[in-house]
Amino acid sequence: MASPKLNLFVLLSVIFFVSACAYDVSRDERALTIDGKRRIIMSGSIHYPRSTPEMWPDLIKKSKDGGLNAIETYIFWNAHEPLRRQYDFSGNLDFIRFLKTVQDAGLYVILRIGPYVCAEWNYGGFPVWLHNIPGIEFRTTNTAFMNEMQNFTTLIVDMVKQEKLFASQGGPIILAQIENEYGNIMAPYGDAGKAYVDWCGKMAESLDIGVPWIMCQQPDTPEPLIQTCNGFYCDDYEPAKPNTPKMWTENWTGWFKNWGGQDPHRTAEDVAFAVARFFQTGGTLQNYYMYHGGTNFGRIAGGPYITTTYDYDAPLDEYGNFAQPKYGHLKELHNVLFSMEKVLTHGNVTNTDFGNSVSATVYQTDEGSSCFFSNANTTTDATLSFQGSAYIVPAWSVSILPDCKTEVYNTAKVNTQTSVMVKKSNEAESEPMSLKWVWRPENIDETVLQGKGEISASQLVDQKVTNDVSDYLWYMTSVNLDKNDPIWSENMTIRINGTGQVIHAYVNGEYLGSQWATYGIFNYVFEKRVKFNPGQNQISILSATVGLQNYGSFFDVVQNGLPGPIEIIGRKGDESIIKDLSSHKWSYKVDLHGLENKVFMDSSKWQAENLPTNRMMTWYKTTFKAPLGKDPVVVNLQGYHVPRSFMSDDNNELVLFEEFGGNPSLVNFQTIRVGTACGNSYENKTMELSCEGRLISDIKFASYGDAPEGTCGSFATGSCQGKNDALSIVRNACVGKETCSIPASDEVFGSTTCGKDVSKKLVVEAIC
Ligand code: GAL
Repeated sequence: MASPKLNLFVLLSVIFFVSACAYDVSRDERALTIDGKRRIIMSGSIHYPRSTPEMWPDLIKKSKDGGLNAIETYIFWNAHEPLRRQYDFSGNLDFIRFLKTVQDAGLYVILRIGPYVCAEWNYGGFPVWLHNIPGIEFRTTNTAFMNEMQNFTTLIVDMVKQEKLFASQGGPIILAQIENEYGNIMAPYGDAGKAYVDWCGKMAESLDIGVPWIMCQQPDTPEPLIQTCNGFYCDDYEPAKPNTPKMWTENWTGWFKNWGGQDPHRTAEDVAFAVARFFQTGGTLQNYYMYHGGTNFGRIAGGPYITTTYDYDAPLDEYGNFAQPKYGHLKELHNVLFSMEKVLTHGNVTNTDFGNSVSATVYQTDEGSSCFFSNANTTTDATLSFQGSAYIVPAWSVSILPDCKTEVYNTAKVNTQTSVMVKKSNEAESEPMSLKWVWRPENIDETVLQGKGEISASQLVDQKVTNDVSDYLWYMTSVNLDKNDPIWSENMTIRINGTGQVIHAYVNGEYLGSQWATYGIFNYVFEKRVKFNPGQNQISILSATVGLQNYGSFFDVVQNGLPGPIEIIGRKGDESIIKDLSSHKWSYKVDLHGLENKVFMDSSKWQAENLPTNRMMTWYKTTFKAPLGKDPVVVNLQGYHVPRSFMSDDNNELVLFEEFGGNPSLVNFQTIRVGTACGNSYENKTMELSCEGRLISDIKFASYGDAPEGTCGSFATGSCQGKNDALSIVRNACVGKETCSIPASDEVFGSTTCGKDVSKKLVVEAIC
C-alpha cells in the first residue's frame, strides 16, 4: 500500500505544477497585464482554414520572426458545424492543432469566437441551416438564435479548456472575443439589439474562461468585457469607459478583393504610420488584420463575389512568402516598440502640439524617456525643435527616438528591400508544357428537358432552402401554352427578376442565355425572346451563388436565387400581356449532376477526342506532376494557390468544371518566387538583400547618392553619387550569395558632392 504521505506529496506537486504554468491575464487602465506585468501585444491575424496544417508552422515562425508576440484567429462556425450537430474539426479545420502550433512557437493567442465573424467568409460564418430554423432571428434576443449561439460558443470553449489552452490554464490564449462589430450595425435592431449585447456579455462571462473577453466596435460593451477598435487608423479612438486599455483588434493591412475589383494595396509606410501613431497615443495592443490572409479554398468565400485569393496585401502574401517591404518595415518597428515596452506601459506622458498636425509625445519613467515625433500633415515635411536639436519629420510620418535623442525609426523611411515576385512555369521532369485533357459533358438532360426535381412548391423559394450544401439550384416549371391563349404572339419573351448571383436559362432544352449580378449591385432583370411550342414548354433555370453575403444589419435574410417575378410576356402591337409564373408549380433540384455524383472521382466516361472549347457545362480533367522544389504552386486560371500538401510528388489530377465555356489548354501550373529584389537604404543603415533561398545572380543597378529616379525595375541614377563604383562594390558583396549586407555609407561608397542637407540612399536592383 502506498503511503498516504507520498500520495499527498504527489497531489501537492500536481497542484503546484498546474498553478505555476497558468498565467494570470487581466487589464488595468493602461494595458493587459500578464502575470502582473504590463505588456505590449503585437498580434497578427492568420485564419487557419485559409492555409493548411503543413503551412502553419512556417507562417507562425515568420510571424514571430517578424516581431509579433501573438496570433489572432476567428473560429468559423459554418465550417465546423455544416449540418446541425454534425461537426468537422479535421484537416485545416483542426483549430486546436493550429492553437498548439502557435503555443509551441511561444506566442500568445487572441481567439475571436464570434461566432458571427464577417471575415469575407460565406454567410459571415453562420451555418445556413440556422436560417432555416422556424421562427429564428439572427443577432437579437431570439431564443432559438441565442440557444444555438450559446451551444456553439460553449462547445468551442469546452474544446479549448479540455486542451488547457486558456492562459488561465497555462495555455496561450490571453483574450477571447464574442460577437463582431455589432455596434456598427445594431441601430435597426432597436432595444432588442441592446439587450442582445448585454446577453452576449453575460453568456460569455458565464463560460468562465479565466481571461478577459473583448467586443470590437461596441461602444456600449458591457463590463467586464473590454471594448476594442477596428479600422485603418485607431489613434483617435478612446475607449468609451475610462480606465480601459486602448486596444486595436483590426489594423487592416490592405483589403479584400472582389471579382472584377483591383488588387488592393496599402503601403508599408502607411501601415507603420498607423501603428506608430497608435502607440504614440497610448495604445498597447494591436493586431494586423490580416498578417497572412491566404486563400479562400472550397466554398468559404463570402461576399457575394469575394475572390478565391484572400491575399489582403498582408505582410505575408497569399502563399506565405514575405511581402516586402511591408514585412520587414513593420518588423523593424516592432523591435523598436518592444525595446520601449516598459516606458510605454508605465511612463508619464507629455504631449506637445506644434500646430499644423505636428506633435511630440514623451513617455517618461525614472529610468529614462522615449519620444514620438509625428507629422500627420499629408503633404508638408516638418522641422521641429526639441531640447535644443532640430528634427526633420517627413509628411505623414512618425519618428521614434527610444532615448529622445536619436531617431531610430521613421515610418516613411523604408530600409527593407522590395521583392518582385515572378511566376515560373512547371519544370517538373518530363512534364509537357501544355497539359493533356479529357472531357465529359455535365448531364443536364434531366433538368433542362424533363424538369426532374427533388422537391416542388407553388412558389419561388429562397436559395437558402438548400442549406447551402451546393452553390447550385435548378428552378424548373412547365407551362402549357395554347395558340388561342391571349398571350400567344410572334413576339414572346421570358423575364426573370434575379438577385443573384448567376443564372443560366433554358427553354425546352435550348440554352437561352445567362445573366449575373456585379459586385455591389445584386438585382437584375434578364429578358430574352423565346419561341414557345404550342402545348407543354419546359422552363429550367440554373441559379448559382458566388458566396453568401457576410455583413450588414439583417444580411442573413437577404434573398438568394430567384425571388421573381418570373414572367412570360406576349406582345401584340402596343399591347403586352403578362403571365406571371411565380406561383406556378416549381420543381427544384439542388446541385449539379456531376458534383452530386462525384464525376471527378470517376475514371470512366471521359473522352480525349474532340476536346471542346467554349462549351458550357463541361468537365475537364488532366494529370500533372508536382513542380519540383519547394516554391509555392499555383494553377494558372488566375493564379489559384495549390498548397504543396494537396499534391503528391508523382501524378496528380486536376478536374475543372467550366460553367460558361473556356479553353483548358490555356491552363498550366506555375511556381512563385522572388524574381527581383530592390534594396533601399538610408545613409548609415545597412542594406540587407535576399533572394529568399536562391542565389543573387546579378546586380542590375546600384547607386549611392541622392534618391535615384524611377522605381524597382527602372531605376536611373540621381544627380550626385559616391566616388566609388557602386555597381562593382555591390556585385562583389552579393553575387552568388543568398543574402548580403552592405552599409550605406560614405566609407563604403566614397564621398559625394550631394551637400550636407541631402539625405543619401543606397539603391540596388538585384536579380534572383
Ligand atoms: C471588419 C470585420 C472583419 C473583416 C474586415 C474587412 O469589419 O470585422 O471580419 O470583414 O472588416 O476585411
